[in-house]
Amino acid sequence: MNKAKFITFEGIDGAGKSTHLAWFAEALRKCGKQVLVTREPGGTPLGERLRDILLNQPMNAETEALLMFAARLEHIEQVIKPALQQGTWVVSDRFSDASFAYQGGGRGVKVAKLEQLECWVHENFQPDLTLLFDLPVEVARQRLSNNITLDRFEQEKDSFFEKVQQAYLERRNKHPDRFVVIDATQTPEQVKADLGKAILSINSPL
Ligand code: TYD
Repeated sequence: MNKAKFITFEGIDGAGKSTHLAWFAEALRKCGKQVLVTREPGGTPLGERLRDILLNQPMNAETEALLMFAARLEHIEQVIKPALQQGTWVVSDRFSDASFAYQGGGRGVKVAKLEQLECWVHENFQPDLTLLFDLPVEVARQRLSNNITLDRFEQEKDSFFEKVQQAYLERRNKHPDRFVVIDATQTPEQVKADLGKAILSINSPL
């Protein structure tokens, strides 16, 4: 039997990843997997409190990075690793690549500092698969314009999201083995087809 896998969904705000994540988890369940859907920042009682602060309270960029990783440590130790050990697949709406993209690319926190935090919080532990939803910033912004309320990140300028996008692609170049880039400008049916192929790629015996 295949080992339970840890799968993350990433992309700029408005890329549509959350909608597809629900479908993806359901598709895994139909393949007979036990699946836990979770998110970052969040996923634990403390993490959800930190999420509320991170999304609403202005703060120093490095404080933001530290809190993201603090929430992540709780998430990994309390939720992600125990689930994987029990054979449950874990699908997370964002993980550390988001910190490299948003705090690193968007806010300008040095990559070396983020790498130190990554090493501290989850040395030798990475997702088995990361689905990066890619689309032009202006298309993502257009999609977000339908939202009534926007959080602190969603209120950022296009130039911020260009940098976030760029940093995501740099992460992909650094970890090409686990990243699959999904063209998020496609129709929902085409995106589902790509996600289906991605499931097959990791569900086959390694
Ligand atoms: P998001 O998945 O966009 O939530 P929602 O779909 O409910 O709006 O995540 C919330 C925000 O958190 C998002 O704008 C990106 C940001 N974020 C970071 O800046 N760094 C991180 O490490 C993580 C996990 C998220």
